[in-house]
Amino acid sequence: MTDTMMHGAPRPAPQVSKKEIDRGDKLIVGPEVQVNRYTRWARINHWITAISLILLALSGLALFHPSLYWLTGLFGGGQMTRWIHPWIGVVLFVSFAGLFIRFFRLNLPSREDAQWTARIGDVLKGNEEKLPEVGKYNAGQKFVFWAMSILIITLIVSGLGVWEEYFSGMLTIPQRRIAVLIHSMAAVAIICVWIVHVYAAFWVQGTLGAMTRGKVSGGWAWRHHRKWFRALAAYGQREKISSADKR
Ligand code: HEM
Repeated sequence: MTDTMMHGAPRPAPQVSKKEIDRGDKLIVGPEVQVNRYTRWARINHWITAISLILLALSGLALFHPSLYWLTGLFGGGQMTRWIHPWIGVVLFVSFAGLFIRFFRLNLPSREDAQWTARIGDVLKGNEEKLPEVGKYNAGQKFVFWAMSILIITLIVSGLGVWEEYFSGMLTIPQRRIAVLIHSMAAVAIICVWIVHVYAAFWVQGTLGAMTRGKVSGGWAWRHHRKWFRALAAYGQREKISSADKR
């Protein structure tokens, strides 16, 4: 039965665009509303990326300063660390490229981003009612996404330039010095961006479930990403589960 047949009047045109919705996003209408936010493959892709970045940071720090040399113990010694660090970088790059392809569309700028950013004080104070309704990602998440994208490209390009095993003759010595400086600065920056990302994931209650179970509660979606939630409801992106299915 269609909505028109059920209520006797045509359903009003949705106020939100279908473009707000990603593949697999779905309201699960049962005893309590839940929302599918990430597919299994998106989550696997994310956690491979996350593990790669942690290993890359640890192996990079081990090579960065003598006081951190002890970290090479985690990778089987100095030589092994030097060998494996660039390869982990390649894995991170390829894995992040997968995330980029999946998520870039909904991280493109939208009208409410400027308003959300202007109200950053209210974001930090948790005054959600003063913020504009946002789609799947808010301006803060979009900033993290694009910062990660730019920094990972910077890391791989500068890293390839100083990867002696394969690209030893590519740069002159003065160019290599600049490449190492850029590489280290990008590494420090991405560690800071990563800390912001992880802090936000824990700070906003109910967010971690998005990347572990792939689901968030209807309340979470309504509170933090109302435009996305409305789009899912408006375009019928829903599946029904009964209480029996839940058990
Ligand atoms: C290891 C610690 C990490 C934790 C606990 C974590 C947690 C999360 C969570 C909970 C989400 C879902 C947020 C939401 O949908 O609102 C998410 C999304 C995401 N994460 Fe992570 N993450 C970690 C590391 C990383 C790393 C290292 C990267 C990339 C280098 C990364 C890239 C992303 C991207 C691209 C998204 C999608 C959000 C967007 O497109 O704006 N994450 N993460």
